[in-house]
Amino acid sequence: MAAVVASSTLRVRALALAARRSRVAASDHGAPGHLRRVAAVGPVRSVRSRRALSARAEVDQSLNPRVAALRPSKTMALTDLARAMKESGLPVIGLAAGEPDFDTPAAIVEAGRDAITRGFTRYSPNTGTEALRKAVCEKLKEENGLVYAPEEIVLSNGAKQSSVMATTGPGDEVIIPAPYWVSYPEMVRLSGADPVIVQTTSDEGFLLTAEKLKAVLKPSSRLLILCSPSNPSGAVYSREALEAIADVVRTHPRLLVLADEIYEHITYAPATHVSFAGLPGMMERTLTVNGFSKAFAMTGWRLGYLAAPRAFAKATATIQGQITSGPSSISQQAAIAALGLGLNGGAPVAAMKKAFETRRDFVAARLSNIPGVKLDVPAGAFYVFPDVSALVGDGASAEGFGPVADGDELCRYLLEKAQVALVPGSAFGNPECVRISYAASDDTLKEALDRIEKALNPEVYTRP
Ligand SMILES: Cc1ncc(COP(=O)(O)O)c(C=O)c1O
Repeated sequence: MAAVVASSTLRVRALALAARRSRVAASDHGAPGHLRRVAAVGPVRSVRSRRALSARAEVDQSLNPRVAALRPSKTMALTDLARAMKESGLPVIGLAAGEPDFDTPAAIVEAGRDAITRGFTRYSPNTGTEALRKAVCEKLKEENGLVYAPEEIVLSNGAKQSSVMATTGPGDEVIIPAPYWVSYPEMVRLSGADPVIVQTTSDEGFLLTAEKLKAVLKPSSRLLILCSPSNPSGAVYSREALEAIADVVRTHPRLLVLADEIYEHITYAPATHVSFAGLPGMMERTLTVNGFSKAFAMTGWRLGYLAAPRAFAKATATIQGQITSGPSSISQQAAIAALGLGLNGGAPVAAMKKAFETRRDFVAARLSNIPGVKLDVPAGAFYVFPDVSALVGDGASAEGFGPVADGDELCRYLLEKAQVALVPGSAFGNPECVRISYAASDDTLKEALDRIEKALNPEVYTRP
């Protein structure tokens, strides 16, 4: 048994190294203007490959400094590693990805298939088809009480593009409450603006308070990013909490708000989803980001949207027009069917939400039995974000693994020894926690929790 564990540990390390190497190879760079030497690789090179190498040695491989400053996504790195381990034959359970495990509902799939056979296979208008933009306006009016014109909607390949870049630039500050979705600080850096991270604690329910916002506001503050329900914490802002934030926003004429509402349909009662743009005076300042990926289990269809005042929608569309152009015509036809499923996604989305809620309760109950794991049950999304700070640090160690200094090490231990992939909270700006996605089947979650509990049993795991 010990030999099996040792060999699987070595395999995991080799796979991690390979994944890291391919990433480094993809992102390695010299300082601007620096000519990078390509190392000679051995005596058996052909004349042609030697020539190619020496030609490459002449090429300046430095990158745009803004790109060079970007950090690769830890969630993607872990998902890739878990996938590689699985493919190598290890029985890994991946709870790292932010993706529903359900199939796209049948009516949506049918509409996509139909779009292909009916020839919706040509370029889409840059901001999306008029039919879908109108359907999105209808959805925003009926479900969110927000009245937009089709010109204020930009459909895009995923929910995250262009709007940060359209509104912020060098000299601007963007306020991001932590824990945050991994991509926001990086998008801000890419735009040339500076992210200002505001820590929120589990005692605050991982919600930004009006006081904390007030404390960081400056004349250079340009954008506040709110995400409710939140990835990674699952926290949901109440109307009162958002109103208190809006009161502060109102005092700062330059401040815009990006409201990421991509998990809106995955909000568990008694919590309810409130759209920030619907609060008095906030419509003109708010960029609402939403998409089809999460609630409709359409991650691979790559379709999201922005709803924003005309000037911001137009600027976002200009960037999109020069970079990706409009999103997939096929996905847009499918999305019309998604919005036609009924209020808040109708019966198919309600069924997925019910399953997520049952799983959330199961995972929360199991975690509450593990000494040192602290969790307030979150009201939305499909993640829990327990505080594991009592399990790591000076004196923490695991049998056959060694010291467990922090959440990153804890995740590595759980991956190597329990073969369960989680994401360390450091990826989201809070190193005291780990993110567990419960978008997995009941049996998978049970097996994962059994393994985690066993790996953290005091007989094999020493707490600080
Ligand atoms: C909070 C949040 N916003 C936006 C997105 C982007 O989703 P997509 O690009 O699939 O539309 C994600 C995906 O993980 C997310 O978690």
